[in-house]
Amino acid sequence: MNPAQGPFSVLGVFDTPDALLEAIGKVKGRTGHRLEAYTPYPVHGLDRALGYRKSPIGGMVFVMGLVGALSALVLELWTSGWDYPLVTAGKPVVSWEAFVPILFEITVLFAALTAGLGMLLLLNRLPALRHPMLRSRSMALLTRDRFGLAVESAGEPLDPEALALLLEDAGAAAIEVVERPPAPGPASPKLLAAALGAILLACLAAAGTTYWGIKLFPRLIPMAHMLDQPRLDPQSGSSFFADGSGMRPPVAGTVSQGAPPRPLPNAEASEGLVNPLPGSAAVFRRGRAAYDTHCAVCHGLLGNGEGSLTDAYGARPTHLTAGAGRELSDGAIYHVIVSGKNAMPPYSSDLTEEERWAAVHYVRVLERALDALDTDFQGGAR
Ligand code: HEC
Repeated sequence: MNPAQGPFSVLGVFDTPDALLEAIGKVKGRTGHRLEAYTPYPVHGLDRALGYRKSPIGGMVFVMGLVGALSALVLELWTSGWDYPLVTAGKPVVSWEAFVPILFEITVLFAALTAGLGMLLLLNRLPALRHPMLRSRSMALLTRDRFGLAVESAGEPLDPEALALLLEDAGAAAIEVVERPPAPGPASPKLLAAALGAILLACLAAAGTTYWGIKLFPRLIPMAHMLDQPRLDPQSGSSFFADGSGMRPPVAGTVSQGAPPRPLPNAEASEGLVNPLPGSAAVFRRGRAAYDTHCAVCHGLLGNGEGSLTDAYGARPTHLTAGAGRELSDGAIYHVIVSGKNAMPPYSSDLTEEERWAAVHYVRVLERALDALDTDFQGGAR
């Protein structure tokens, strides 16, 4: 007999959970086939009686939770520690305390998805839309108040008569032989067309609903009262402070992380300062990052005084790569960064000591870019 044919299982129906448990003890080990129980509610001791191993879901969740935590950590270290280090409120760029909420959320996300999807898809093998046992005539009883013990074929053909006797001996009140469902034939063109049509309709509905939800749905603001609280918005006014502006300049004398407070030399004393950093590619890169982030809005990406803020700013930022700007000594540029000049605010609280000198190097690179050497950006000094 072809194993794919023949009955799928021989089912014994029992009246009480105790009878079922007792029957398992009698039947177990006496057939080479798989035993499976069907009950309307969880029955204590059933898993042990059937010899189920402990579910692997706990281990899966633990491992995936760890993977989630590690991914979140790497993501946060990479984005805020390496790729785009922004100093916020004077804290170090890698402040692990700020990482905790995201770390926690991603860990829970990974763990929860693993628990849900792992259980449904891996362990319960969904989507299994037609289990052979659903064809059983006793299924209605088994979901109400009876308890089923099925000897199921895992490939080898069953011997229905012998198994029926065995189950009867074990106390089954009724026996049913559950046939295997016929193998599904090729889908009819009509069915295919209907399925395609349904998918198309679903896509159209999703697209239409999304468009409606985003573009046409009147904008409802949930919990609008939360918008009405007194707070400081960046770039907007405030009646709280005497000068009417919401954004506060740092307290005078504030220095950036990594920049030890030191008495600032005056402009003349700074003139002769020597850039302590080597003109290496790494330093140029750090300088470009500092310059592009803090200086380019006013002085322009090329240092020509044509930044995106220039028109709105009123004061004319200095052209750094021509004329008098080009004549400034390294120390003079450093001094302007630390102390500001007229309309240019000081950047001592935003740039570390290293970033300041790297920015000075980069201003020089911008100047030399007008008559660049091959050694520039290959780690070569002047
Ligand atoms: C908010 C706009 C703004 C930003 C941002 C800005 N500057 Fe300036 N900068 C100016 C203005 C305006 C001047 C002209 C000041 C003057 O001469 O009155 C100036 C002047 C200068 C000068 C010439 C100083 C002198 O003695 O003539 C240098 C050098 C300079 N800035 C470098 C920088 C560097 C480096 C940065 C980034 C750390 C930076 N600036 C960021 C607006 C800005």
